[in-house]
This record gives sequence, C-alpha cells and structure tokens, in this order.
Amino acid sequence: MNFIQHSDALFNKMADNTLAVIPSADIHLRNRDADYAFRQSSDLFYLTGFIEDSACLVLQKKAGECRRILFCQPKVKEMEIWTGYRLGPEAAIEKLSLSDAFSIKELDAKLPELMSDCDQVYAAWGSDKTWDARLIDAIEKVKLKARTGVQAPTAMQALEPLLHELRLIKDDAEIETMARAASISAHAHMAAMKQVKPGMFEYQLEGTIRHYCADQGSRFDAYTSIVGAGENACILHYTHNDQQIKDGDLILIDAGCELNHYASDITRTFPANGRFSPEQKALYQVVLDAQFAAIAQVKPGNHFNHPHEAALQVLTQGLVDLGLLSGNVDKLIKEEAYKPFYMHRTSHWLGMDVHDVGAYKIEGQWRDLQAGMVLTIEPGLYIAPDDETVDVKWRGIGIRIEDDVLVTKDGNRVLSEEVPKTVADIEALMAGNA
Ligand code: GLY
Ligand code: MN
Ligand code: MN
Repeated sequence: MNFIQHSDALFNKMADNTLAVIPSADIHLRNRDADYAFRQSSDLFYLTGFIEDSACLVLQKKAGECRRILFCQPKVKEMEIWTGYRLGPEAAIEKLSLSDAFSIKELDAKLPELMSDCDQVYAAWGSDKTWDARLIDAIEKVKLKARTGVQAPTAMQALEPLLHELRLIKDDAEIETMARAASISAHAHMAAMKQVKPGMFEYQLEGTIRHYCADQGSRFDAYTSIVGAGENACILHYTHNDQQIKDGDLILIDAGCELNHYASDITRTFPANGRFSPEQKALYQVVLDAQFAAIAQVKPGNHFNHPHEAALQVLTQGLVDLGLLSGNVDKLIKEEAYKPFYMHRTSHWLGMDVHDVGAYKIEGQWRDLQAGMVLTIEPGLYIAPDDETVDVKWRGIGIRIEDDVLVTKDGNRVLSEEVPKTVADIEALMAGNA
C-alpha cells in the first residue's frame, strides 16, 4: 500500500502552519480480562500501515515543510513477553519512513511544543471526548505561554473532509486488494452454498465462510456475518446465527472478509435444499432484476442515488406484478409504499471500513460517481412473517443480493462477480453441476 503517497496527498490538502492528529484505535473489553481482537483505526493505517494500539500520528506542515511524527509504545521486554512484539519508536522511523518518533508517554508533553505557533489543528473533533479533551488541554498549555510571544492555534478543523475524500477514491493498490478480498469472499459464499444441508445450524455456515477466508489469507471478517435461515432473513442485522436450518428455508448470508484492512461485503440468498420454491423464485427474480438495473447505473456521470432509484423502480413494479402492492408504480414510489418490504438503501461506500467514509452529498446534492469509488449494490425484499396485508404464501421470505462495484472510467467492474446469483446458476452449483 502506498502509505507515503497517502500522507503526501493529505499534506497537499492541509493549510500551511497546521497539525493533523490521528490516534490509533482503542482496545475494547469483551468480558472480564478478555479483549476483542484489536483492529487499527482505518485512518491511521491508511497513512502509516502501522498496526499497533496506543499510538498517535502527528502530521506537521510548517513553513512548507512536512513532517510525519509517530508516538507509539516503547520497547519494553517484560511487556512484550505478555502482549507481543512492539516496533518501538527507534525502528519505526526507518520502517515507516517517519521524520521522528517518540514513546506515546511523551505525547502530552510534546503536543504543546508542536502546537506552538501552529494556526490550526486538524483532528476528528467531536468523535472521542477523551481525545478532544487531550488536544484542548495541549492548546491550553500553549496559551499559557502567550506572554513569551508564542501563539496558540486559533482554529480546530475537522480532519474528515480532507482525509475521507482521499480515502473515497481508491488507488490501484487499494483496488487490487479489494478485488482480492471480494474474490475470496465470493468463493467463501460458494463453499457455504455447496455445504449447506437442512438440519445444520446457521453458525456452522458462518464457520464455513470464516474457514475458507482464513485459508486464503484473511485474518478477520470485515463485519459480523449475518447468516439468517427462513424468517431470520427478514431481520436486517441478524447476527445471532444460532438457529437450525430447515428444509424449505431460504438462507441469507451477508458476509465478507477483510484483507490487509480492506473490506468486502457480499450477500447471497439461496435455498437450503438446493431448489427455490415458486414463491421464493418469483420474489428472488424481482430482487435480482433490481440489482442488475442498479448496477447498470454505476458509471461516471451518474450520481450516487441513481442506482437506488433504478432499484426502487424494479422492486416496486415487481411487488405490483406479484400482487403484494397495487396501484400506479410511480405513485407508489413517491408514497414510499415499498417501505414495509424494502426499508434500507441500495448502496454505501466500501473501503477500509465496510460502511466506508466519504460524503454522499455535496452542498445538498447527491454527488457524482467517479472512477476509483467503490460502492455496494444491495437491493432486497423482506416479507415480514406476520404481514397480514399479503397472501400467506409470501410471508417470512427475506432476500438480499449484494455485490461490490468499482466505478471505472467507462462504467463499472463488479469485484464480487464470481459468486453465482441467477436462480439457474445457484441451483446448478448446489446440485454439484457447476
Ligand atoms: N454488511 C453490512 C451491509 O451490507 O451494509
Ligand atoms: Mn453492504
Ligand atoms: Mn452486506
């Protein structure tokens, strides 16, 4: 990954005589003495490639000179015996091409020095009270030196609009990593389709996916997998994954691996017994048509909401054709009559974070799609098990189809296309004929 290029691009956007402060992620407790696995802050990783906790990057732009300064955990043998290898400030300078590096213990003493005669401090102000307080504390210390002629920063600037606009447009190395992540996840979904049998538990398929991804070099999932069989597919963020799969169920799997801190995000819905029922097939085809229509809208010149608008058109028309809604399609869309069956949006940015950073609107208008952006296309239909407005045969069916789509100069590239999604292709794969 081109970490130096990333931070150079940020320096280009920073005003002169400013600092940017980017802390590492925190360690989170799962339960007494047991932590969740540590995952670096995407912002810090993007700028450095550094994967340790208890660190902070300071970018200093002063009289045109740009300095990259890292505060990190010092080398302490006894601590490393317990928690593992630390790079340490000395080695970090060379390994990460820094201007300087210090122990994290020196951060509070050094920040006022770095902020002296600095005009503005860029940070993710308002995201973390502890860091807000820490930085304000440092500004206060500079103010105390006013009588010596030192000037304190006069503005707290949001870092996100600068940094996150950079992260939104992926460079070649990022695209290559995301394409590989999507390909691994695509094959993991295929493994789940091939292994499923009625009687299995949802978490066993979750395990199939994780095992396949780990085998291909992915250490973590990009988010907690959703494996919902039968009615559970109608719960959008279902993660219990603890129910037994029944013959006749559709199974919705929304799962994607993370590779070198980049996410993939794929959903497929398939029949536990390998054959869609007529109702499942009819609804599935509507969602699939909506997904194709939405993907066709992913191209430069269109804006972010074009795919969603295309999906709504096809989904609403399909609901009318199947008798789940009645009336004029345009009017139904305007009145949001589809909402009981389709309550989420069609896309989000994808990158280092599964719901990645970057603005969706510019000055109140949906922003134009640009080559290098990656977004998901994920229409669905969810017929609640207790929905008495529709024929009983439709109730409890939940379907989502999700792919990861790169905007290219001429249109788009579906990074996750290897996993089948037509009814015929899914049934063929599950029957062992693909
Ligand atoms: N997997 C989360 C989402 O699709 O947005
Ligand atoms: Mn998604
Ligand atoms: Mn998803």
